[in-house]
Amino acid sequence: MSQAIHRVPAEWATSAKIDAAGYAERYERSISDPDGFWAEEAKRLDWIEPFARVKETSFAEADFGIKWFADGKLNVSANCLDRHLAERGDTVAILWEPDTPGEARRITYRDLHAEVCRLANILKDNGVSRGDRVTLYMPMIPEAAMAMLACTRIGAIHSIVFGGFSADALAGRIQDCDSTLVITADEGLRSGKAIPLKGNLDEALKRCPSVQKVVVVRRTGGAVTMQEGRDLWYHEALETASADCAPEAMGAEDPLFILYTSGSTGQPKGVLHTTGGYLVWASMTHDYVFDYRPGDIYWCAADVGWVTGHTYVVYGPLANGATTVMFEGVPNWPDPSRFWELVDKFGVNIFYAAPTALRALMREGDDYVTRTDRSSLRLLGSVGEPINPEAWDWYHRVVGDGRCPIVDTWWQTETGGAMISPLPGATDLKPGSATKPLFGVQPQLVDTEGKVLDGATEGCLVITDSWPGQMRTVWGDHDRFFQTYFTTFPGKYFTGDGARRDADGDYWITGRIDDVINVSGHRMGTAEVESALVAHAKVAEAAVVGMPHPVKGQGIYAYVTLNANVPDSEELRKELSQWVRREIGPIATPDVIQFAPGLPKTRSGKIMRRILRKIAEGDIGSLGDTSTLADPAVVDNLIENRPMMP
Ligand code: WT7
Repeated sequence: MSQAIHRVPAEWATSAKIDAAGYAERYERSISDPDGFWAEEAKRLDWIEPFARVKETSFAEADFGIKWFADGKLNVSANCLDRHLAERGDTVAILWEPDTPGEARRITYRDLHAEVCRLANILKDNGVSRGDRVTLYMPMIPEAAMAMLACTRIGAIHSIVFGGFSADALAGRIQDCDSTLVITADEGLRSGKAIPLKGNLDEALKRCPSVQKVVVVRRTGGAVTMQEGRDLWYHEALETASADCAPEAMGAEDPLFILYTSGSTGQPKGVLHTTGGYLVWASMTHDYVFDYRPGDIYWCAADVGWVTGHTYVVYGPLANGATTVMFEGVPNWPDPSRFWELVDKFGVNIFYAAPTALRALMREGDDYVTRTDRSSLRLLGSVGEPINPEAWDWYHRVVGDGRCPIVDTWWQTETGGAMISPLPGATDLKPGSATKPLFGVQPQLVDTEGKVLDGATEGCLVITDSWPGQMRTVWGDHDRFFQTYFTTFPGKYFTGDGARRDADGDYWITGRIDDVINVSGHRMGTAEVESALVAHAKVAEAAVVGMPHPVKGQGIYAYVTLNANVPDSEELRKELSQWVRREIGPIATPDVIQFAPGLPKTRSGKIMRRILRKIAEGDIGSLGDTSTLADPAVVDNLIENRPMMP
């Protein structure tokens, strides 16, 4: 743990929207008078019909329910577009940089509004109406944001599937929510390489009878097959589509989007966010956490396929009338200066990225950073995984020239937006700590029995009361929502994370304490990788755990038991690795596969993951009690045959 404290710089304390006293006062009010506080904050949006009700929530089984602003009506696209037209129609809304360094696209609020309306009409003309699900399988191109906004304009529910997911993973996510229309592109581009999005989709659609129509954006011009009657080109449909499309008046609790995320068991679950509370949360947190000022050039380097891209590339910044940068490429191509060259090219003021990218760039040496100017930068942000103090220091000292505060934002797909984070004008920073709860967020640490732990301590992180950005249900399985999040510690939302709280009341997230691995800031369920492995004809059994990884944060360590009489080999190891890649996607590729003649199990047959985790970490001196194992010799074999680390 780093001991350093970076005090709020004097100029921030005086100029920022919220200073330390302001934070304390507003936080207190958000807890003691949530209705008053949130009625005030919700004024940042335009409501078609005002709400009279504010917070109607309970985490208790008897009257479980989560509703915010329930009798209000609004439209997300109108909040992100129409209301900005009068004052900043000519302001750039989306500043897009292609994968290959080249000409940026600058799309003004006026142009974005017109194209979103056109696309909304295309969706309607192709049978999409309010409440229908539309899956987006897209690269990081402006059309992805347009597609999201077009759905919200007509009240359709979008479900984005990250472009790095396989045809199989895509099919599962389309089927789960019965999407009737899919928007994709011919191909995606990443570091010069084409990704066959339409090809993958065609493969997936063989198993998705609900899909009637496919809209294809031409990105690369690569060859694709268009199925007569089902597939249409976006650019062709756009030519004849009207730019006149009135926004639907949506109830605050009407669904806005579904986003699939991995849990500790079973298939990914469709996290559902609704309209009013989510947008209030996205807008408020973007405004305060980044101390956003009109005119700022703001860049969140996440993909729209993840929740960070939803909330902090699209909805938060556009709700606030910001100029949001969308970057199609990767941090280290053509070379590791790309991020910082873009910062200079666009004059970026606020930059928000994941520690994994920073660690990868840090390895390449400071020259790639220092040869750029970066004087436009004012604030830096971190998200997705714990940031190690070394990476924090490098980010602060080298990238930010020691001048820019870093906001380390802890949150989850489920929370809709940042939950625990510094406010740059209010909070002293400690490298590695997400510091303090944002307004309305009531974190608590409990032990495994649920006993509340006070003061400086460490435990399981729960949130004791609702906040507007909270997910409302798991698509199609409300009981799973309740079971997953509210039964481990009855009456409380369980995050799945462990955390430490220091004597100043600052929170330090220590990582997942369930069977979820955080790979490069992306969540992977161990159960999913296991089921992909056992689907292979030669595999009898598999157990997957996380292991420390210098760049990814956590890597995937898979123990694989082969069927009887199947010899292990380097070739089979590669084959299994490729297999998982194809089944789920590149992010699920195991970093280590260890062939295991047996797995450590209790006498009742339960795999003892605790032991597998220790072996994967190389922490074999503290395996703990192995006496309950059915066959303790299994462990010795695993230790002896531990492969070399990558
Ligand atoms: C999990 C959520 C936050 C949106 C992107 C990831 C970990 C997230 C931090 C942070 C330490 C963090 C947690 C959390 N996490 N941010 N600042 N410090 N850990 O969303 O895929 O839903 O993953 O990411 O473990 O539970 P997600």
